[in-house]
Amino acid sequence: MQMKPHIKNLTILNKPQVMPLFLDCFINDPIYQIADRAELEEYVTPSVEKALETNLCIGIFDNHKLIGACILFDSVSLLDNINTVFGAVPYMIPKILPIAGIYLMNIMVAEKYRRMGIASYMLDYLINKHNHIVADVDNKNSLSMYNKRGFTIIELDKDYWLVRK
Ligand SMILES: CC(C)(COP(=O)(O)OP(=O)(O)OC[C@H]1O[C@@H](n2cnc3c(N)ncnc32)[C@H](O)[C@@H]1OP(=O)(O)O)[C@@H](O)C(=O)NCCC(=O)NCCS
Repeated sequence: MQMKPHIKNLTILNKPQVMPLFLDCFINDPIYQIADRAELEEYVTPSVEKALETNLCIGIFDNHKLIGACILFDSVSLLDNINTVFGAVPYMIPKILPIAGIYLMNIMVAEKYRRMGIASYMLDYLINKHNHIVADVDNKNSLSMYNKRGFTIIELDKDYWLVRK
């Protein structure tokens, strides 16, 4: 790892920084399958807002610019917002719900800052803080990041993995 960044908790007040980073990172993502930025924004804003309201999300800033973030829910807030979060992927609900702990919905790093260990650093922070984590993974590159940290696959779809620790 080439830098040791400072992790901050994100709140709903950080929404103006989180949304542009989210859209940059997940436009054309294989799970959302949305190529239009405004459409993706409309689709994901409710669940990102709900996640930020839990005060559990974390981010890394470089000179006040958000360069990395983890969007997550605890099991209670996930249950409260189940339809908002899983609108597009309802088949995942029974697989995630019985597992108490944290659901890591998104991990993201601004393109310019990738391959410096920032996502790994955020993930290690979450692992130290929370006993059980479930994450969805839709690319092989980030699957290896989870594998290295002892996550196991609990569900496998085509190019999509649900992993837990
Ligand atoms: C996936 C993502 C969060 C990784 O962030 P990052 O800060 O670059 O990740 P790290 O530098 O901590 O790398 C973690 C590990 O992932 C793997 N990895 C990440 N990017 C990779 C790439 N382009 N090619 C190959 N392996 C890669 C490597 O195993 C790496 O560990 P290593 O460098 O020790 O080999 C970032 O690429 C991103 O935001 N992508 C768009 C959003 C996304 O796909 N999120 C994940 C959804 S499942």
